Amino acid sequence: MKILVTGGAGFIGSNFILYWMKNHPQDDVINFDALTYAGNLKNLSSIENHSRYRFIQGDITDSDVVTQAIQGVETVVHFAAESHVDRSILGPAIFTKTNILGTQVLLDAALAAGVKRFHHVSTDEVFGALELKSKDKFDEQTPYDPRSPYAASKAASDHLVRAYFHTYGLPVTITNCSNNYGPFQYPEKLISLAITNILEGKKIPVYGDGLYVRDWLYVEDHCRAIDLVLSQAQPGETYCVGGLTEDISNRDVIKLILKDMGKADSMMEPVKDRPGHDRRYAMDWSKIHRELGWKPSHDFETYLKQTIEWYRQEKAWWQPIKSGEYQNYYRAQYAK
Ligand code: NAD
Ligand code: DAU
Repeated sequence: MKILVTGGAGFIGSNFILYWMKNHPQDDVINFDALTYAGNLKNLSSIENHSRYRFIQGDITDSDVVTQAIQGVETVVHFAAESHVDRSILGPAIFTKTNILGTQVLLDAALAAGVKRFHHVSTDEVFGALELKSKDKFDEQTPYDPRSPYAASKAASDHLVRAYFHTYGLPVTITNCSNNYGPFQYPEKLISLAITNILEGKKIPVYGDGLYVRDWLYVEDHCRAIDLVLSQAQPGETYCVGGLTEDISNRDVIKLILKDMGKADSMMEPVKDRPGHDRRYAMDWSKIHRELGWKPSHDFETYLKQTIEWYRQEKAWWQPIKSGEYQNYYRAQYAK
């Protein structure tokens, strides 16, 4: 089978390609990625010369390039997106372009090429926010209520994907997943930023009261969920994918990181809150468990430690990132 992965040079996309090359030794993998600030081919250096792997640099909003790349492809797994909420608050336009228009261009190309499956990788952020003290969780029936430009653009892309299923019969599936962590995460997201800041001797910026809750999932568990959906789910289906069963606040996540790295809690630095900050996310992943037998297999504390160790060992991966355009972003985002 020939599989086209968009955004394969990003955090989850590159983990997915490495996972797929290992677990599907018969398949040809095309990585289609524009190499924005978040794309990094070093993530894939271990397979770059593999005969079953090919990289195409292209933008998903460019229909000519997409149309060429998709010829002969049976399965599309669509990760490519602008993915960081804070950047969407600083500048929403590129989120609308990439996440909405880009998805529509890809859907048109997939339809014209007759792909057998179009899998769209989405997020729990489309559902909005849950109350802090509640036991509520998002599931496949939760109404959409996106509250950041990023979440709104992902919600719009989900709607387009479903529209192409109902209107044109494109065989689509969707996963809405919670916060991923693991190797190759760009150091702008909480866990990768916290670990790398500590390794640089810097403090960790904590938004607001730090009591916000996210549902953390090790990236390989996400890859396995998508694999199961591709092989077993019916077209038109959506699955919620998440990790934790107990709430953990951002402060407590950071405390675990500081403890493992032998640093004091005073390395946390309260900073101004994110506008429209979603209080709590929690995922009910019982549908994918019941129907496809998936459940997370990587325990949070153990794999958080492994992730810390990965960033300790891979300074050559993240130090160049943190010295470039990143500095401008960091100043704009964390200016008092
Ligand atoms: P990322 O920012 O690390 O990577 C995004 C990739 O997309 C980069 O390689 C970038 O170069 C590429 N890209 C961006 N614009 C493009 C364009 N116009 N054309 C082609 N390629 C382009 O993102 P990530 O964290 O790996 O997230 C991947 C996907 O998973 C996104 O769709 C995101 O919404 C979704 N998701 C992420 C998380 C998470 O916790 N990170 C959770 C749930 C869902
Ligand atoms: O829930 C899935 C989503 O998770 C994905 O769709 C997004 O692509 C991904 O970026 C992530 O979004 P979040 O906004 O939840 O992740 P982030 O790592 O940016 O923030 C996690 C929490 O930590 C959130 O409550 C904000 C807080 N935070 C974040 C940063 C970067 C801080 O307190 N300080 C920080 O410096």
